[in-house]
Amino acid sequence: MPATVIVGAQWGDEGKGKIVDLLARDSDLVCRYNGGPNAGHTIVVGGETFKLKHIPSGILQGKECVIGAGCVVDPQVLIEELDDLESRGISTELVRLSGNAHLVMPWHQAIDRGSERRLGRLKIGTTRRGIGPTYADKAYRLGIRIQDLLDEKILRQKIEVALPEKNVWLERVYGAERVEPEGLVERYEGYAERLRPMIADTSLLVDRALTDGKRVLFDGAHGTLLDLDHGTYPFVTSSPTVAGGAAVGTGIGPTRIDRVIGVAKAYVTRVGEGPFPTEIEGADQERLRELGGEFGTVTGRERRCGWLDLVALRYAVRLNGMTSLALTKLDVLSAFSELPVCVRYRLRDGTETEDFPAHQSDFHHCEPVYETLPGWEQPLDSLTDVSELPTAARGYVELIEQRLGVEVCLIGTGRERERVLERVA
Ligand code: IMP
Repeated sequence: MPATVIVGAQWGDEGKGKIVDLLARDSDLVCRYNGGPNAGHTIVVGGETFKLKHIPSGILQGKECVIGAGCVVDPQVLIEELDDLESRGISTELVRLSGNAHLVMPWHQAIDRGSERRLGRLKIGTTRRGIGPTYADKAYRLGIRIQDLLDEKILRQKIEVALPEKNVWLERVYGAERVEPEGLVERYEGYAERLRPMIADTSLLVDRALTDGKRVLFDGAHGTLLDLDHGTYPFVTSSPTVAGGAAVGTGIGPTRIDRVIGVAKAYVTRVGEGPFPTEIEGADQERLRELGGEFGTVTGRERRCGWLDLVALRYAVRLNGMTSLALTKLDVLSAFSELPVCVRYRLRDGTETEDFPAHQSDFHHCEPVYETLPGWEQPLDSLTDVSELPTAARGYVELIEQRLGVEVCLIGTGRERERVLERVA
């Protein structure tokens, strides 16, 4: 597997960190290509829990890790993450940071908060980490990049250009407190001191690694339905989350990518606002949330829970050119005697479709059409081989494969690193 993309196939929080962690064992290099401190990977190793926001989870395997140009970086969060790993005996010497990645500045967080407040009930439900405003400034060409940290004069000038305009917005549009310029350059120079050794030409580094036949893993943040172009806009994040973003976000050509593994939970969760056809009503929602520990890694928010949605998953197969699927948290469904699976959407005119609606209003008003499968009602955590799966659990997996036309290569059966069954076709 010279170049493999791991991509979330739903609305994020699919358990990608654990899958990346597993595949990183056989990789030489692990790269993040999008997003910032809005992402959170939780990995449990030997009873210890690691929560990573910026750094690819390959770091736990001692692999070289790239934070690519398509990422946005909050230097304070990154440094805290580096310190935390170091204090727990994990070396961060092999972290490489693209000079083209953009910095999340204090005004971005303030604007994110102000904007959500102003939107009121129309809010997006962002993580309030300043992600949208940072990407907006990048597109507006008012952003500040990691490489600007390397030159005090440039850094000062960029802050002096950006800040007065942002303060007008903060005070006049959002009625929020201004960001004071005093001490800001010095604070960022402090971050520069710490981050300087990791800043590298990561596009060149990844290209050389691939040319040398090294195995490179691309670790996508968030999920397909949060993609800025193809997700459930405006309830999306502000970066490309689909597999194609791996090429753009690390600076390699799309022809270098060999395979794309989608990661989906055996059910669905979503944080933040926006339509969610298979969201469960009633007590089962709460039950699934508790059993699955469905609370946000970054914000601690309760995740909304729903039954597996094969219409949305087929869309993810298409958007990502998915070559196989990793199914996580199958064990969480052990508690249910019946498992509804959404196989089609019924639209407002009564027609039914297996294809994800292209128009937002069709999606907002569609009704899920379920096929109900029998549950297996027994724990899966002691299984060591896929052949030991109960018949009903195997039926669940086979239905997914059959409807998606993609093989399920990995099955997650518990929180710990080793609780993954590998399935060879
Ligand atoms: P933002 O990325 O903070 O701007 O938030 C935009 C939307 O994406 C919100 O609905 C967030 O809850 C959602 N979101 C962003 N990152 C993640 C993630 O890693 N997992 C799940 N949802 C996310």
